[in-house]
Amino acid sequence: MTTAPDIAPMEREVLSDALGLLKDREQVAERLLESSRKHSFDPDTELDWDASWEEGKWYWPPELVSLYDTPLWKRMSEEQRMDLSRHEAASLASLGIWFEVILMQLLVRHIYDKPLTSNHVRYALTEIADECRHSMMFARLITQGGAPAYPVSRFHHNLARLLKTVSTTPGSFTATLLGEEILDWMQRLTFPDERVQTLVRGVTRIHVIEEARHVRYAREELRRQMVDCPRWEAELTRISSGEAARVFSISFVNPQVYENVGLNKQEAIAQVKASGHRKEVMQSGAKRLTDFLDEIGVLRGVGRKLWVSSGLLPK
Ligand SMILES: [Fe+2]
Ligand SMILES: [Fe+2]
Repeated sequence: MTTAPDIAPMEREVLSDALGLLKDREQVAERLLESSRKHSFDPDTELDWDASWEEGKWYWPPELVSLYDTPLWKRMSEEQRMDLSRHEAASLASLGIWFEVILMQLLVRHIYDKPLTSNHVRYALTEIADECRHSMMFARLITQGGAPAYPVSRFHHNLARLLKTVSTTPGSFTATLLGEEILDWMQRLTFPDERVQTLVRGVTRIHVIEEARHVRYAREELRRQMVDCPRWEAELTRISSGEAARVFSISFVNPQVYENVGLNKQEAIAQVKASGHRKEVMQSGAKRLTDFLDEIGVLRGVGRKLWVSSGLLPK
């Protein structure tokens, strides 16, 4: 297995958009295409899928497991905690596939009317190809781990069907960032963690490297759109993103994971809800995103209230 490259240069790029400058669309896309040429991975050959799982290692860092530090967690055996980390990793990978499939459709819709040979369209196609590889990688990880796939509820599945069909561009990019940034924050803590299974570390490392440019593309586009779009569209984006944040935080971990490791589902849900540690984890994970959305004017009015009620934004 070859070693993935240092992520520092891309990290700097993502952070540089905090400067708040509107950058030329074609120029941004050209740089992202360049980065894609240098740092793209084929997970099928990059990772060792034949290695067996390592005894005594976590499938997700314990502090990022939903029940961590709750009274229920304290009663669980170490084996049961590790098993929960295996199921939650499968649940998050399932959520990742759901988001990526939605994103692929949003990107296809986004470029439908744009110039075919532009860098902006070429980069969107590159990103769709990245997401195809990621979804296949996550599916393979779930299968390998032996836990089931965890689809979101039927209601959220259908709600997203509606949103991905009717959402306008700024709403689509806000949803994209919501799906990418919080999971990305968790994955940045996962891939360097030596307590975690090597395969999970490899998967999260590839994902972090390739997602850095996705986040940049979505941020640049959203920043432009919020300046240029009509007022009704900006308002619609504020409300729909607040609703998306609520759905996101509810469906983040599928509660079936608790039952599948032998816990009482209702008790586990209640303890996660009451957990100060979990609240802190989710708000820390969302902070980079909510700071950015606040800066470009997405977190206002009713939309802001919805974000607070999602638990991702402090009051
Ligand atoms: Fe992805
Ligand atoms: Fe992505």
